[in-house]
Amino acid sequence: MVNIRYAQGGDEPQLELCMKACGLYTEGQDYSQWDQPVLVAEDEGKVIGFIQCYLVKPIPIMAQLAVWPDYQHKGVGRQLGDAMEVVLKTLGITQYICFAEKGNLRLIEGYRQRGMKELGQVSQYLRKIP
Ligand SMILES: CC(C)(COP(=O)(O)OP(=O)(O)OC[C@H]1O[C@@H](n2cnc3c(N)ncnc32)[C@H](O)[C@@H]1OP(=O)(O)O)[C@@H](O)C(=O)NCCC(=O)NCCS
Repeated sequence: MVNIRYAQGGDEPQLELCMKACGLYTEGQDYSQWDQPVLVAEDEGKVIGFIQCYLVKPIPIMAQLAVWPDYQHKGVGRQLGDAMEVVLKTLGITQYICFAEKGNLRLIEGYRQRGMKELGQVSQYLRKIP
């Protein structure tokens, strides 16, 4: 049975593997520290998905959502999103933003089903400061 809980110390390697399995991994990035709220979905002790929200002002950002390919299409992503919304509500936060790549049609459809309003088109760029 899938259980949603706060991430805890020791989960980092599994979070990194999940990033890799879901195509969210950036080579050379250090994924050993997570200092924003992260919820994980766990099945028999294995982290099978997670969601992270950046608690920043003026508006929080739901930054990462990932579910192991074997566990996708079973409602885990939705459960993670719902659970993070509960966390935000308990903090008095009433809105947040998300990003999606243009081609990630499942996610965009998921946003639509969640009642999210499209604000514009953005892509992510990474610069390493020399
Ligand atoms: C996107 C992803 C997390 C969905 O997980 P999932 O467990 O398969 O999703 P569910 O079964 O709960 O959700 C059903 C649908 O709602 C969408 N969805 C789920 N949670 C969502 C959320 N919090 N926000 C928006 N859409 C969501 C899914 O894309 C899915 O689309 P489908 O109807 O084509 O299957 C998963 O496909 C994944 O890890 N993809 C690769 C990484 C990625 O693109 N992450 C998002 C950008 S950070």
